[in-house]
Amino acid sequence: MKYLITVGLFIISLLFISWNSAQPKGPKGKKTYDRLCSGCHGADAKGIPDFSPALARSKIILGADNKLIRVLLKGSAELKNIPGRTNKNEMPPQANLKDRRIANLLTFIRSNFGNKAPAITPDAVKSERNKL
Ligand code: HEC
Repeated sequence: MKYLITVGLFIISLLFISWNSAQPKGPKGKKTYDRLCSGCHGADAKGIPDFSPALARSKIILGADNKLIRVLLKGSAELKNIPGRTNKNEMPPQANLKDRRIANLLTFIRSNFGNKAPAITPDAVKSERNKL
């Protein structure tokens, strides 16, 4: 009887472990996007008319790594240097986020919402931060 209970518990814990690791965790960076960016840029990253630009197919998202990273670290202070911008609202700086979190977030945005661009590494974020 004791033996059966031990084997039973063992099987139940194996089932639990395999069920637990089979749960989808979602791509890295998605949680950060949903929490910190989607409120202003939309869950679908299409932006909000007269309020915020789209991140889907954005030239800045798909453009040079260092410029994109600077937009995250400095917000509108960086965007003001780009000629021809008419957006009147402010993009808040996100410099309080860790290098790895910014890298995962930007990599997520760059590979979703119809975007296709290479990953951003934590080292690239670190090196831009050091230049500020
Ligand atoms: C409070 C609202 C708000 C939040 C939160 C916010 N943004 Fe923005 N974002 C804006 C606005 C407004 C602009 C345009 C600002 C400007 O032109 O100066 C912008 C511009 C941008 C741009 C430039 C896009 C382009 O093509 O013009 C990027 C990239 C960007 N945001 C990424 C993000 C990311 C990633 C997050 C999440 C960490 C985020 N933003 C959170 C409001 C916000």
